[in-house]
Amino acid sequence: MTEMSSAQEQTATTTNPAPANVEVDTSYENDSAYGDELSWYSTSLTSSALEYRHENGRRYHKYRDGAYLLPNDETENERLDMLHELSLMVMHRKLYLAPIKNPQRVIDLATGTGLWAIDFADQHPQAEVIGCDLSPIQPTLIPPNLKFVVDDIESNWAYENNPFDFIHARNLAVSIRDFGKLIRECYRSVKPGGWVEFQDYDGYPISEDGSLEGTALKKYYDEVYSAFEEAGCEIRPGPKLEQWFRDAGFVNIHVEKFVIPYGVWPKDRHLKEIGAWNQAQAEAAGFEGFAMAALTRYKQWTKEEVYLLASQARADGRKRDIHMLVNFYVVYGQRPENQPE
Ligand SMILES: C[S@@+](CC[C@H](N)C(=O)[O-])C[C@H]1O[C@@H](n2cnc3c(N)ncnc32)[C@H](O)[C@@H]1O
Repeated sequence: MTEMSSAQEQTATTTNPAPANVEVDTSYENDSAYGDELSWYSTSLTSSALEYRHENGRRYHKYRDGAYLLPNDETENERLDMLHELSLMVMHRKLYLAPIKNPQRVIDLATGTGLWAIDFADQHPQAEVIGCDLSPIQPTLIPPNLKFVVDDIESNWAYENNPFDFIHARNLAVSIRDFGKLIRECYRSVKPGGWVEFQDYDGYPISEDGSLEGTALKKYYDEVYSAFEEAGCEIRPGPKLEQWFRDAGFVNIHVEKFVIPYGVWPKDRHLKEIGAWNQAQAEAAGFEGFAMAALTRYKQWTKEEVYLLASQARADGRKRDIHMLVNFYVVYGQRPENQPE
């Protein structure tokens, strides 16, 4: 990691710990997550947040109804727990890459089931940690220095009078409509000298050898992302994060890019394990869950049509000769010292 000291040196460092080309493993053929801001938290765990929307066999958040198109039921929450493990595998067991030192106030935006926030609070017992989300789906047995709140991070914030040392956000592709605004809010709400880190996808999968072309997997993502686009959701935040950080005024910006394969086709053992875990989380009803609200609400698909497409995509995902992967970006930046605004 490279830290830069002056505005003139604000060229982000991009490294890629994964091989430029992911080698395919062909051997299988042979062997077999207070105070002033309480007003902002006024919605915390109110009855409206605890009511849910039930639709097409899945459960969805009710607070800010319709803002987020993935379910929040047990099936999805188990998948989010798996997604946490996947992120840790990708990040070589690191929760974050920003060079934070002794943080006192930290927030995890859109914390989901809250495992990142729980792990962070455990590792930093001196820090006051907040995890916020539209859905109160987090566990109740949590570290004493952690608090979960219900809120909408796309609404205006009221943290600038009690700012954070570190703001973290992960896996918000398709969740957020205006990342630029969100990152500007982060800038306003982090202390001078404090750090903000986003970890996110370029949602569109690719294959380096073209093996994804013409598959049901490709059709699945084209159809589903077309619906998310209609809903106004940002699908490809990963590669745009650096520019959003720069536009917001952050310095010492650092970018790391990781490869996340789907399935056990890579030869590299680390990538193979990541691919296996990625497939496992998607097969945990992820294909249906990801597509259902987007396609039925925005493209008038029927539930049955979504099930069919999802099952075709799942079947393709099991084929060893389809070498699908996505790029994942970790971007962190620092609010300049001595620059109050
Ligand atoms: C894919 S999950 C990621 C959860 C977590 N950050 C992680 O990496 O495990 C996206 C989360 O964003 C939350 N979310 C979506 N839009 C939101 C908003 N406007 N305000 C707060 N949370 C939001 C959803 O409820 C969901 O829990």
